[in-house]
Amino acid sequence: MRLPFLSQRPREFTVEPVHPEDVDALAALHAEGFPRPWNAAEFASLIEQRPVFGYTARPAGSGRAGPAGFVLARLAAGEGEILTVVVSRQWRNQGLGWLLMDAVLRALHRERAEALFLEVDETNASAIHLYRRLGFFQVGHRPNYYREGEGPPTGALVMRRDLR
Ligand SMILES: CC(C)(COP(=O)(O)OP(=O)(O)OC[C@H]1O[C@@H](n2cnc3c(N)ncnc32)[C@H](O)[C@@H]1OP(=O)(O)O)[C@@H](O)C(=O)NCCC(=O)NCCS
Repeated sequence: MRLPFLSQRPREFTVEPVHPEDVDALAALHAEGFPRPWNAAEFASLIEQRPVFGYTARPAGSGRAGPAGFVLARLAAGEGEILTVVVSRQWRNQGLGWLLMDAVLRALHRERAEALFLEVDETNASAIHLYRRLGFFQVGHRPNYYREGEGPPTGALVMRRDLR
């Protein structure tokens, strides 16, 4: 199988570890991606937890402009979990989600983690496409897991990416 973290993508973005001063930008990006966004204080308390880590991505050469996307993950007992990943609407479908997820996979590989897990709305076609391309496969299904807005509830796919 092709290992994503050994393949090449254009380096149009600068990927850096999340900093405490990013929390307002993380909250703004999260509000673009999810109907029930997490606020800056929630991000601050999350990223100070030791097993939580993450990355922001900025377009190369954009100086101190806010990030175009970020990912947060947690590593515990040899297993990683994606807490959230968001790319700003204007930057989607340009490989940024792939770069952020690849940064997490590289970090977990360095830590000799066994696997990375995530949950995704079964109707989220672009995210599922991205995860499958990164080597994730479905290991579970939670029916009626997401109840947002007016529409009917949707299920969650539980996906796993082996790291060994
Ligand atoms: C999911 C998300 C992070 C992906 O970020 P991104 O920067 O667009 O990701 P990438 O560009 O690396 O990959 C997206 C892939 O989905 C594909 N795609 C886009 N729309 C699609 C659709 N309707 N059906 C199938 N695939 C689709 C793109 O073509 C691309 O694949 P490719 O690189 O093979 O061409 C972004 O869409 C997002 O922030 N969504 C809102 C928040 C969210 O849903 N987060 C995930 C929660 S689990």
